[in-house]
Amino acid sequence: MILLHDISAQHAELRAEIDDAVARVLDTSQFILGPEVAAFEREFAAYCHTAHGVGVNSGTSALHLALLAAGIGPGDEVLTVPYTFFATVAAIQYAGATPVFVDLDPRTFNIDASRIEASITPKTRAILLVHLYGQPADMDPILDIARRHNLLVIEDAAQAHGAAYKGKPVGSMGDLGCFSFYPTKNLGAAGEGGMVVTNNPDYAHKVRLLRDWAQEEKYRPILKGYNYRLEGMQAAILRVKLRKLEQWTEARRSIARAYDTLLASSDLILPVVLPGVRHVYHLYAVRTPERDRIQAELKAAGIQTAVHYPSPIHLLPAYGDVRYGRGDLPVSEECARTVLCIPMHPYLTREEVETVAGALISAAAATLEHAG
Ligand SMILES: Cc1ncc(COP(=O)(O)O)c(C=O)c1O
Repeated sequence: MILLHDISAQHAELRAEIDDAVARVLDTSQFILGPEVAAFEREFAAYCHTAHGVGVNSGTSALHLALLAAGIGPGDEVLTVPYTFFATVAAIQYAGATPVFVDLDPRTFNIDASRIEASITPKTRAILLVHLYGQPADMDPILDIARRHNLLVIEDAAQAHGAAYKGKPVGSMGDLGCFSFYPTKNLGAAGEGGMVVTNNPDYAHKVRLLRDWAQEEKYRPILKGYNYRLEGMQAAILRVKLRKLEQWTEARRSIARAYDTLLASSDLILPVVLPGVRHVYHLYAVRTPERDRIQAELKAAGIQTAVHYPSPIHLLPAYGDVRYGRGDLPVSEECARTVLCIPMHPYLTREEVETVAGALISAAAATLEHAG
């Protein structure tokens, strides 16, 4: 089976260092926050070129606390995309604010900056954008709109560790950046984890307070807080993996270049990379109207693929409260019908990449025969 992600391969390679890191935490019993978390916060913030990093227990918590630290709450509208993992939208609702959807640029799967201004109202407070699949959103026009309309910018960089826009790392361009360390992410824990990064000391302080019950002094909460703490064991393991991240990212990027070349002559719509960005290929997503049949054929050929995501958020029954219906956000709806994510991880061999590309090309060619 050629896997979509392969986290066991990472652990096999780094096993001795991970065992040492785990032993270090067991020896000190600093399981919650503690020195490993503090060190990882410094190292990851430096990697993102930000002054502060605050570790939390998931990417969802990072988004929730970033919004709260920015002072967003009931009565506020937050512009975001309907085509993302639903945590992005849920976090806005956890904060008590209202998500307002802006459709995608179909070439990049990211927010279409040219549609943002039409959605701004007197209640709009922030843009929560997503760097989907590892490609940075088109930040210059977004930051320009935010400046002109006095909006905050929060980056959901859960899928984009190490991605950059015109040389600037994701997470460092907006007011706050949010990361997930879910195991399959480009930088993944052996469990749950997340981080908020920012250059603003007040936001960092607020997130730090809220993640641990807002206790400035023990048992003296100054606000209603949360148990969103990052564990020492996760931080210790993430520190080991952070040292490998650049090498893994370059491996992903060279696999993507190979797919680009091998699939160029097929009828599949390949991902478009904006000039001046560093795409880190959390996922390599192609589009085809025959998605479901092609996926089934790849599965039969021993190739694991995934549909991220089969429904835009406004059409998920659980999010029926978002006030949109079918046809309102056509690009996102089309992506949900046509997208297919193919194997992408740093340990794929050249032979596996060629096998995946070959299987895709023959499945896509069968599409043409069906049509003809
Ligand atoms: C774009 C996006 N935002 C937020 C999250 C939430 O992160 P977590 O699963 O760590 O809560 C994820 C991943 O799961 C994601 O892909």
